[in-house]
Amino acid sequence: MYPDHSNRTLSWLLAAGTCEAATEAVASSLVLVAAVTGGNRGIGLEVCKQLASNGVTVVLTARDQKRGTEAVSILGKLVLSNIVFHQLDVSDPPSAVRLADFIKEKFGKLDILVNNAGIAGTITEINNPETFRQEVFSGEELKQELNNIDKLSEHRLDELSELFLKDFKDGQLEHRGWPTEGGFTAYKVSKAIMNAYSRILAKEHPWLSINCVHPGFVQTDMNFQVGDLTVEEGAKGVLMMALAPKGGMIGGFLNRTEFASFV
Ligand SMILES: NC(=O)c1ccc[n+]([C@@H]2O[C@H](COP(=O)([O-])OP(=O)(O)OC[C@H]3O[C@@H](n4cnc5c(N)ncnc54)[C@H](OP(=O)(O)O)[C@@H]3O)[C@@H](O)[C@H]2O)c1
Repeated sequence: MYPDHSNRTLSWLLAAGTCEAATEAVASSLVLVAAVTGGNRGIGLEVCKQLASNGVTVVLTARDQKRGTEAVSILGKLVLSNIVFHQLDVSDPPSAVRLADFIKEKFGKLDILVNNAGIAGTITEINNPETFRQEVFSGEELKQELNNIDKLSEHRLDELSELFLKDFKDGQLEHRGWPTEGGFTAYKVSKAIMNAYSRILAKEHPWLSINCVHPGFVQTDMNFQVGDLTVEEGAKGVLMMALAPKGGMIGGFLNRTEFASFV
């Protein structure tokens, strides 16, 4: 994500006659750097472990300093020393800026970002109720709208998120056609909007490989450890995407380890 300054650094080091330092600079520029959100437990922790085992330098991030440093120390006991901690709360933009500054300063680049952090519930806070478009749509229309990547915009996704929060507060979810069957409506809607946003980003930045992964039903705290899959199995698709050669799939979706359609 950051410009690669390694060539400039290399010529400077060679000019200074410091061959040993130059060799080190080349070696470190070849090592991939990854950041994982929500890396302190569950699938995120496993992804950190497996990336580090594959020789990737990992920035394990967590919203809580103590939980994050404990996770790094657990992985350190497995002799994985290529993991560092940095605080990140994905709902706090200044913490994202601090993380970006840290990565830029320490590594000068970021090769892999695993946006894993998530919760199963929602907070009902509404910023601008007057700005909502008053409309009634069915679940099918919503699916089609989110799948129409040529028309979809970031602005529309913001509008849909706010509309959802308003309908949630007003007890109008079912009436307005949000996916209420089986519960976890906020979770489903947030994932659908996040996936749609990823597709917009993938279209806008085709030089980056931006993709989505559904890990399957995995045994983690999120589902009180009742999932069908182990975290190792759940992390497989994420690792497939993260370690794929540059220029691979763009704007795609993996259902566990199989390519699938978004809708
Ligand atoms: N498990 C499944 O069956 C399943 C299925 C489909 C998709 N997923 C998705 O996979 C991802 C990982 O889930 P999981 O099952 O591993 O859940 P988990 O064990 O509950 O872990 C969730 C992680 O996200 C972190 N997190 C939550 N809110 C955050 C925030 N605002 N900023 C930074 N980190 C935050 C948590 O940190 P704290 O420890 O501080 O709470 C925790 O590290 C989620 O996006 C989930 O929706 C899971």
